Amino acid sequence: MENLYNHRKVYNKSELLESQVKQNPMEQFRNWLLEAEESPMISEANAMSVSTVEADGCPRTRMVLLKSYDWNGFVFYTNYNSRKGKAIVENNHACLHFFWANLERQIIIKANLEKVPENISDGYFASRPRGSQLGALVSNQSEIIPNKEFLEKQLLDLEKEWEGKEIERPQHWGGFLAKPYEIEFWQGRPNRLHDRILYSLNENFDWEINRLSP
Ligand SMILES: Cc1cc2nc3c(=O)[nH]c(=O)nc-3n(C[C@H](O)[C@H](O)[C@H](O)COP(=O)(O)O)c2cc1C
Repeated sequence: MENLYNHRKVYNKSELLESQVKQNPMEQFRNWLLEAEESPMISEANAMSVSTVEADGCPRTRMVLLKSYDWNGFVFYTNYNSRKGKAIVENNHACLHFFWANLERQIIIKANLEKVPENISDGYFASRPRGSQLGALVSNQSEIIPNKEFLEKQLLDLEKEWEGKEIERPQHWGGFLAKPYEIEFWQGRPNRLHDRILYSLNENFDWEINRLSP
C-alpha cells in the first residue's frame, strides 16, 4: 500500500484567540474572507463545499461559490432540480466548509437552507454574463445526458431562440440562503494544538463562543 506518512506540515501562520475574535461570527467570517481574497496564493476564496444529506442517510458534498452573505447567512446559486436541490427539499440541514490552505484555516458551518426570494435570484441572474445565463438554461443539472454534443446542440438552439432578447431566469434556478446555527473557525497551530473557536446560537438567539480541543 502507498502511504503518505511523511507528508506533514507545521502550521504556524497565525493564531486565533478569544480576546481577538468578533462577538458575531459573520463579522469574524468577513475578516477571514477578506484576508483570503487578498491572498495571492488563494484562487476563488469564495469557493466552499456544501454537504447535504440524501434519502439513504449519507451526506454528499460538492463545491459551490458563495455569492453573498450578511447577518442572516450565506447565499449560493444553483439548479433547484439538481441532486442537491432535491436533497434539500427532503432535508434542509447542510454543512458548508471553507478551507484556505495557504492561511492554514478552515471554517465549518452548520445551517438550515431556504430559497432566497425570487427577486433576489432575478437580480443575481440578470447580473451574470450571457454565457452563464444560457448555461443555466441548457443544463438540467445532475441529469444523465447522452453525450457532450447533446449539450452543445442545445446551447446553439437556445442562442438562436434568445438572440437579441433579455434572458429570463428559469424558475428552477436560484439561490439558497444558508442560515447558520453553528460556525467553527479553525486555525492551524504547531504540534497539532490547533485553535478552534466555536460559535453556537443559543435558545435566545445569542451567539455563544467556546474553545474546542484540537
Ligand atoms: C470551484 C467550484 C465552484 C462551483 N460553483 C457552483 C455553484 O456556484 N453552483 C452550482 O450549482 N454548482 C457549482 N459547481 C459545480 C458543483 O460542484 C456540482 O458539480 C453541481 O452543482 C452539481 O451538484 P449536485 O449534482 O450534487 O447537485 C462548482 C464546482 C466547483 C469545483
